[in-house]
Amino acid sequence: MSLTKCLLFALLAIVASASVSAERVRYDHYRMYKVNSENAKQLEVLKDLEGSSDSIMFLDGVHLVGADIQIVVAPHKVPDFLEILGKSEIKYELQSRDVQKSLDEIDEKVAIKGRATTAYNWAQYYELDDTYAWLQDLARSGPGVVTLIEGGKTYQGRSILGVKITKGGETINGKAKPGIFLEAGIHAREWIAPAAATYIINQLLTSEVESIKELAENYTWYVLPHANPDGYVYTHTTDRMWRKTRTPYGRCFGADPNRNWGFHWNEVGASSSACSDTYAGPSAFSEIETLSLSKFIEGLKGKVQLYLSLHAYSQYLLYPYGHTADLPDNVADYEKVFNASIAAVNKRYGTKYTGGNIYDAIYPAAGASVDWAYGTQDVRMAFCYELRPSSTSYFTGFKLPAQQIVPASEELLDSIVAMATEVKSLGYFD
Ligand SMILES: *[C@@H]1O[C@H](CO)[C@@H](O)[C@H](O)[C@H]1NC(C)=O
Ligand SMILES: *[C@@H]1O[C@H](CO)[C@@H](O)[C@H](O)[C@H]1NC(C)=O
Ligand SMILES: [Zn+2]
Repeated sequence: MSLTKCLLFALLAIVASASVSAERVRYDHYRMYKVNSENAKQLEVLKDLEGSSDSIMFLDGVHLVGADIQIVVAPHKVPDFLEILGKSEIKYELQSRDVQKSLDEIDEKVAIKGRATTAYNWAQYYELDDTYAWLQDLARSGPGVVTLIEGGKTYQGRSILGVKITKGGETINGKAKPGIFLEAGIHAREWIAPAAATYIINQLLTSEVESIKELAENYTWYVLPHANPDGYVYTHTTDRMWRKTRTPYGRCFGADPNRNWGFHWNEVGASSSACSDTYAGPSAFSEIETLSLSKFIEGLKGKVQLYLSLHAYSQYLLYPYGHTADLPDNVADYEKVFNASIAAVNKRYGTKYTGGNIYDAIYPAAGASVDWAYGTQDVRMAFCYELRPSSTSYFTGFKLPAQQIVPASEELLDSIVAMATEVKSLGYFD
């Protein structure tokens, strides 16, 4: 090929890839299947299929014979996919012929730019920059009470920004206040989690309700609404259903930052394939997000007694461990706190949560932040909330309508009040 022709091709290739990366990912005519393995052999087939292609997305881990697994398949992969299932006589059910249509049915009321006219509120989801600007405003207007904290950095160079809240000072009765640490948004597409985190920040700072005032004044709070900023930005610009970080790994991107923490890393319930949504990463703390955030948390050692991680969805409250069915040594206390917390979440709107230890309540999953906090940081109480909607809302559940931000957050805060009260009465804050 001549030099000019060659250059022209190179140029075309650049233009083509640029326009692809700028385009929004759509799921037109993607299909959603529910499959179920009947024996170990079929389970193996599904395990091999997971992470084999980024056009076959497993929404559930492949762990147990008999467990339902939701899979989203790109139209061009459907024939291959069905052939593999057919060969191994794996039963399946078609749940959606057009995933994009199912997603479009949900009005999410995505962030409206131009905050000059509307104050930051909880009637809509915001972009990262809007929330960061709001956090910065809070720190400026609430000196002594709100301090900006940087929990870490991202692959693309963003800040993991949050706030430390010390309402009424750093001490209580001459002693340093106990600490509550809350991170949200480690999974990018779970938009309700950061929205609920900012709701909680706002309530801690402004509520006149006695129990919430106590919650604000009894503890030092560390709240990081966006533990995976690169992923969150990507859900706004390109792919609403993105879950992982954005670190490039060969032809695929990102590791699952909630399978990447350095505690029994990648032992179970995570994938070693970079295309998988549960890719554990090439090593523990391979992601700068989890590495830098873990260093920040290590810096608080001894100051945090309760650790919270917000996710969506399924309405679960979970506690360690994810890597083993063995229960934590203080499981009796975990059960008490769990019972009080799920009773409280139900009070206002009747929302039903279930859960328990991660391994049994949902599935084996090693490398989660709560396990690391509990297992290595002497944080004796660590919980993960899977917020609204319920688990029957497969896939579309990541898009919780914006009208539900407030009720979902209100009941969560009710639950956290009950949780803190119970944890306190069990002596963990002493
Ligand atoms: C706050 O502290 C007070 C005084 O010790 C206690 O009565 C109350 O239950 C605490 N509230 C919470 C939510 O921790
Ligand atoms: C928690 O609630 C369950 C179900 O109501 C009950 O069986 C269990 O005994 C309770 N556990 C504790 C420690 O209160
Ligand atoms: Zn999650």
